[in-house]
Amino acid sequence: MKVVILKDAAEVAQYGAQIFIDQINAKANSVLGLATGSTPVALYKELIEANKSGKVSFKDVSSFNLDEYLGLEGTHPQSYRYFMNEQLFDHVDIDKANTQVPPGNDANPIEACKKYEADIVAQGGIDVQLLGIGRNGHIGFNEPSSSLASRTRVKTLTKETIDDNARFFSEGEYQPELSITMGIGTILESKKVVLLATGENKAEAIKQTVEGAISASCPASALQFHQDVVVIVDEAAASQLDDPEFFKYIESQNQALLAKLK
Ligand code: GLP
Repeated sequence: MKVVILKDAAEVAQYGAQIFIDQINAKANSVLGLATGSTPVALYKELIEANKSGKVSFKDVSSFNLDEYLGLEGTHPQSYRYFMNEQLFDHVDIDKANTQVPPGNDANPIEACKKYEADIVAQGGIDVQLLGIGRNGHIGFNEPSSSLASRTRVKTLTKETIDDNARFFSEGEYQPELSITMGIGTILESKKVVLLATGENKAEAIKQTVEGAISASCPASALQFHQDVVVIVDEAAASQLDDPEFFKYIESQNQALLAKLK
């Protein structure tokens, strides 16, 4: 697993955004896998800036988001559809018709999940999938105990995740306890995976993801099976790794090699 340790959240966002910019510039009709949560917001700001300054165009890009709350309309301010519009889609030249978020309000969520999987396949698969990570190691809404081969499905949230995400809901506001999420198997089929984590409260999850046993107790650990994953973390999120200096050394060697090849 490639682990890139950077000074702070701003550097994490820049490094991550550059991967997406390079991807789209290499393939204009890239299929992006996108994520919500507070961590990717700074990366989206970088993409918006890059779009405004002409460094990248989303004109032919399509996207699939990881997850959505079950029971929220896309117009609900806490829905992930609303979040994506606000944080990215409304500010770049993407055709919103080409952006997909799992339908939280479908009358038949089970069929909707199957269709979501089929739509990803019909689009040629996801070229690069962005991930955040929960404190308990969840990716998307694949909570601990999720099958490592799981597909897009309805998933019950843990109390910890509900509590962590309560900060986005106002007091007394209905907060869903169910979601639709891409499965871990779905995520593993993306051609490339970029996982971002910042802050000390993610350090244990990052340790388990990178150095722990592959286990449903830490869903993100399944990424050890993927051949092209980059985990981009700040110093705080890297603070529990056994040997962060080793990862820094590898990255400096990689950068030196790339500079030579230029
Ligand atoms: C939610 C999302 C995840 C996200 C996680 C962490 O549960 N479903 O995709 O990674 O929150 O969010 P944050 O980046 O705000 O810590």
